Amino acid sequence: MVPNISSLSSYILEYQRSCANPTGYWAYVADTFYWRRKYDEVLRWDFEKPEIAWYVNGKLNITENIFERQIYYRRKQVALYWEPNDPGQPARSLTYQELFEATQQFANVLIAQGVRKGDRVAIYMPMVPELVVAMLACARIGAVHSVIFAGFSAQSLAERINDAGARVLITADGGYRGEKTIPIKAIADEAMESTECVERAIVLRRTGESVPMKAGRDYWWHDLKKNAPLVHEAVEVDAEDPLYILYTSGSTGKPKGLVHTTAGYMVYTAHTFRNVFQYEEGDVYFCSADIGWVTGHSYLVYGPLLNGATNVMFEGVPTWPDAGRYWQIIDKYRVNQFYTAPTAIRALMALGMEWLNGKDLGSLKVLGTVGEPINEEAWHWYHDHIGKNKCPIVDTWWQTETGGIMISPLAGIIPTKPSYATLPFVGIQPAIVDDNGNELTGNSVEGNLAIKFPWPGMARTIWGDHERFRHTYFGRFANLYFTGDGVKRDEDGYYRILGRVDDVINVSGHRLGTAEIENAINEHPLVVESAVVAFPHPVKGQGIYAFAICNEFSTGGEAGIRQSVVKTVERIIGPFARPDKVLVVSGLPKTRSGKIMRRILRKIALGEGDDFGDTTTLLDPAVVDEIVTKARAMEAEAG
Ligand code: PRX
Repeated sequence: MVPNISSLSSYILEYQRSCANPTGYWAYVADTFYWRRKYDEVLRWDFEKPEIAWYVNGKLNITENIFERQIYYRRKQVALYWEPNDPGQPARSLTYQELFEATQQFANVLIAQGVRKGDRVAIYMPMVPELVVAMLACARIGAVHSVIFAGFSAQSLAERINDAGARVLITADGGYRGEKTIPIKAIADEAMESTECVERAIVLRRTGESVPMKAGRDYWWHDLKKNAPLVHEAVEVDAEDPLYILYTSGSTGKPKGLVHTTAGYMVYTAHTFRNVFQYEEGDVYFCSADIGWVTGHSYLVYGPLLNGATNVMFEGVPTWPDAGRYWQIIDKYRVNQFYTAPTAIRALMALGMEWLNGKDLGSLKVLGTVGEPINEEAWHWYHDHIGKNKCPIVDTWWQTETGGIMISPLAGIIPTKPSYATLPFVGIQPAIVDDNGNELTGNSVEGNLAIKFPWPGMARTIWGDHERFRHTYFGRFANLYFTGDGVKRDEDGYYRILGRVDDVINVSGHRLGTAEIENAINEHPLVVESAVVAFPHPVKGQGIYAFAICNEFSTGGEAGIRQSVVKTVERIIGPFARPDKVLVVSGLPKTRSGKIMRRILRKIALGEGDDFGDTTTLLDPAVVDEIVTKARAMEAEAG
């Protein structure tokens, strides 16, 4: 098992050691894994190119490290408790042996469908155990999975499938989320109409609703499984072979397929999971994230399973059938570590205390948050009412790109402070730099967050676009990985994440690019141009405010346009990207060179006064007055 850092003094010592001799440190952690062939060199790197390789020439399979490495003593232990959306439906659980067999069997299914090492497999599924099986089966045969969140629209799904060049799509007839049934297969069918690469769709039966199956392309999971053997020997892969591609938003409209490779990701997710959550043998851990995002990949699937943890996986939403659903699950499975997003905490906090009645949360030892800054009020509510003042909160800062947790308390070891991610994980060397790239040393400084030295879990490239990877992350500041976040280091040396400094916004913990939303809005037939900014939202963290130029209206007038703009975004990206406010305008504040002055739009979205600073560079300053007047009228109308 990976080494455990069990006290503050050992954290301090290990941190120093990991920075003084990073390769020695990461070799020491890596040596707790099973390698088919040991690596020749721990690290080769150059941030200029960039080129990052960990455990050079090492050979392994990550599923051998999940299963064979520990199966003899975990055979009967539960790997996955699965809680269905509807509490009235039967729950399921899979032991390590059962998950191992299901993985091997599905690996054989994939092989029979012609999937080979290096092939990309797209996965568009609800939160059911077969989603985990599908991912692990890909890893077993060296295929590269690309999970696409089941809230994405057909168009977004198609775009990702095409970018990855996936030959196989694994999906389901439908899925349940709260009171809704999501027509997953219908969305997948629509997506497949605009993809040329997908040869096979493997469809899991979840809802049992009848769905069309295209002959020669679509096959039922349960049919293919029938004759597939339960044993499949893992395919040996190189340490740097890709394990998966995961799409995330950037500041341009096109999503980025971040590539994570095998060995470094394995070592990093396992080590961070064990130490940040202080997971102990026998504990039950519950991560509420959807596997469609990186948190689910690293801290529902790989990190916990590599540590032989018992996981709780939940299909549904926190507020259905009522706002006590998470607390009931924690009570039912006697959960020890619970990891969720601040937006969920704020939403549940707003619904009142009554939902905690009768729920025994006494098993909890550690609480975690991820995905966005947690405000002090939510932190205290979580700490006092869920953790009953006895559970440390690990506010974990990291990103799709980082693969694993980067700045966070180690539970019960690093003293917490509300809304602070506190200190870097071992081996992580943060730097705060000003806009010119000068490092701001010492405490009580604020600037851009960058990282000076590679860590094993970092993404290696953007699928098919290494140049974009270079300029986005390594082109901004010489020899540094740039995170896109602003940060403050306080007088104690603690880090507080201040939010994005680029055009990426964070809505309910979902990462979106403003350009991506604008592109979607611009598809509306009556919209000429649009601009999207974020505004503070009490539950979502950030809300989406869209300004849309329309020169003609359909029958519904402005109100009709607003609604249909929202629908357009739902159709093109997915319901989670729905704008909170749409203001129909006749122009946008632009400079003479045509650049939209978002600073002004942000102020308007905030409802802030009339002082917009220097507007002399604007092409048409009068447009600002019109927007302000219309924005106020819209607010008044909304009450
Ligand atoms: O802005 C930071 C915010 O989420 C961004 C990364 O989003 P994504 O790649 O979707 O990954 C989310 C889950 C790891 C970051 O650039 N963020 C993440 N965690 C925190 C956070 N902001 C503040 N505090 C956090 N703990």
